[in-house]
Amino acid sequence: MQAQEVLRQLRIPELDDVRQYVRGFPTNALMGMGAFAAITTYWFATRPKALKPPCDLGMQSVEMPGGERARRSVLNDSDEHMTHYYNDARTIYEVFQRGLRVSINGPCLGSRKPNQPYEWQTYQEVSDRAENLGSALLHKGHSHTGDKFIGIFSQNRPEWTISELACYTYSLVAVPLYDTLGTEAIGYIIDRATIATVICDVPEKARMILDCVGEKGRTVKTIVLMEEFDSDLVTRAKESGIEILSLQEFEVRIPHSFLSGFQKGCSPPKPEDLALICFTSGTTGNHWALTTFRICAMLTHGNVICNTAAFIKITQPSTKDVLISFLPLAHMFERVVEGVILIHGARIGYFQGDIRLLMDDLKTLQPTVFPVVPRLLNRMFDKVFGQANTPLKRWLLDFAFRRKEAELKSGVVRKDSMWDKLIFKKVQFYEGYGQTECTAGCSMSMPGDWTAGHVGPPLPCNAIKLVDVAEMNYLAANGEGEVCVKGPNVFQGYLKDPEKTAEAIDKDGWLHTGDIGKWLPNGTLKIVDRKKHIFKLAQGEYIAPEKIETVYNRSDPVAQIFVHGDSLQACLVGIVVPDPDFLPIWAKKKGIEGSYSELCNNKDVKKAILEDILNLGKQAGLKSFEQVRDIVLHPEMFSVQNGLLTPTLKAKRAELRSHFREQIDELYAGIKV
Ligand SMILES: *[C@@H]1O[C@H](CO)[C@@H](O)[C@H](O)[C@H]1NC(C)=O
Ligand SMILES: *[C@@H]1O[C@H](CO)[C@@H](O)[C@H](O)[C@H]1NC(C)=O
Ligand SMILES: *[C@@H]1O[C@H](CO)[C@@H](O)[C@H](O)[C@H]1NC(C)=O
Repeated sequence: MQAQEVLRQLRIPELDDVRQYVRGFPTNALMGMGAFAAITTYWFATRPKALKPPCDLGMQSVEMPGGERARRSVLNDSDEHMTHYYNDARTIYEVFQRGLRVSINGPCLGSRKPNQPYEWQTYQEVSDRAENLGSALLHKGHSHTGDKFIGIFSQNRPEWTISELACYTYSLVAVPLYDTLGTEAIGYIIDRATIATVICDVPEKARMILDCVGEKGRTVKTIVLMEEFDSDLVTRAKESGIEILSLQEFEVRIPHSFLSGFQKGCSPPKPEDLALICFTSGTTGNHWALTTFRICAMLTHGNVICNTAAFIKITQPSTKDVLISFLPLAHMFERVVEGVILIHGARIGYFQGDIRLLMDDLKTLQPTVFPVVPRLLNRMFDKVFGQANTPLKRWLLDFAFRRKEAELKSGVVRKDSMWDKLIFKKVQFYEGYGQTECTAGCSMSMPGDWTAGHVGPPLPCNAIKLVDVAEMNYLAANGEGEVCVKGPNVFQGYLKDPEKTAEAIDKDGWLHTGDIGKWLPNGTLKIVDRKKHIFKLAQGEYIAPEKIETVYNRSDPVAQIFVHGDSLQACLVGIVVPDPDFLPIWAKKKGIEGSYSELCNNKDVKKAILEDILNLGKQAGLKSFEQVRDIVLHPEMFSVQNGLLTPTLKAKRAELRSHFREQIDELYAGIKV
């Protein structure tokens, strides 16, 4: 199919179409740590027409300025990357103003008390509150040209979005904080962005800020609290020279005695102005001396708007959509989805703040959009339930997994579970891929293409090229290499860190993601590997599997080993190929005899090998999460012939992973029991 035909097919949404979709991003959650993982979204309202794959997405490589070949979206209307969708919404401030207009002051942000219906604040109410709060921030001495960073440290709730809008109303910059960061990282962000005011939801968060500030004279002067607080907190804060204020009083009283910011001549932002600072982390050094570092990514209004525009172009939301907001708002994907909703004057309902009540919130709100990021979800659930499997968690994770395993060929998920019957009737996935450094996404599958195993073509806001990673045998000439992204969604760099910025964005403006991609024949991208073999476990610990393999490889009976883990799991597992020469001798010493294949099937042999490698791991100083929990013995060597080693005899990790998928799944299933 030609590009023009694709465009023609996708252009017009069917207004009364009330089909239900699930849109997903299960990518790097499963691959590694570079990108921000998987998203599942349920849309029940207006949807674009769907393509009927297979399609040629018109993805002939195009020449970029400078002569390089890259690929662009089939949805680009012109030669330019998409920068915005609506002419009157080019900043996040204007996004909201547009929502206010097109909703004709309809309901905007909703929240609920236990067992109560949702209560809605209208667009006008939200706008007024944001302007008042913004004026109060100016009154406190913040300004676009000076002290512009405002910390927001809260669970998802209407005041989060109001605080953010307050910043944008007067060109201030929102800096999301979240409690899993811990005091050290929060201290880092406060220092890095010299934050003077933090808006918190509960006193506990204010105390966390005070804990950070206590150590050294930080910049914080004011904490604004959404919930009630006692005088002890005020006294304690005073000792650190910090004033505690109530949000209600702050947003209402101060502006009355103070000119509105607009009257003072403070203006809304321009697309090139900074909007948000997002904390993120990376790793550096080799596999032996792995260190993680902290960085703060700078995103402008233009960054966020073009990414929002690209999502709109593909998903065609409407004023009727309802988003359930429960993914941390500090996560850029959730931020972009909120933008997609607000720009259309649609509604956002917040969960009660308790994951255990999420199901009840879903039933009450009946959302049409439900974004899910498995890795975060897993962590959030684990925080509440420990490792226990709740039905909802199991359903969602199971769903993501089965999606990954390409079992959803028709796009219809089994309809037998309670959840399916309650909320989800017909469910389909979109899959995409991205990271904070390109705002949220850089590729996404097309409507109608519900197949797994790829992350779609480039979004219309950016081009993607693959760059040689010769040492891993990935060559651009073969359509494989490191995924590099260029477009208006690529971030401005890391705050006060030109060195790390130069590592991420090259001199020609290409963002290097650290992920290895492969072009499929029809122009869609598949993420196949990581440039550095480092990933995060579900609990957030970094793992360098090659380091662990080198340690285990010292075990006499071990000829080859592959250590696997991913960000949906909290532990590692291994595939061990025992040494055909040594194994019989070694086993005999333990009193076990038999042929090589008999020994490979022997539970006691497995147990003995596991014990041996765990001992070696302990001696080598591996941390407990760096040790495998279980292994299987595999009688056939990894080789170049069977495609599991590169010609230079290095492990092909992506191939190993898919080759041993079944064994890996069984290992994890066994561990859970
Ligand atoms: C592109 O190719 C992949 C892999 O063969 C397939 O799963 C997908 O459906 C195709 N996409 C389109 C739009 O044809
Ligand atoms: C997309 O952009 C390229 C140039 O970068 C152009 O040749 C092509 O015609 C555009 N495609 C569409 C469908 O507009
Ligand atoms: C494992 O050890 C053998 C020597 O016993 C060595 O040749 C091989 O390179 C090692 N493999 C890894 C992955 O360290």
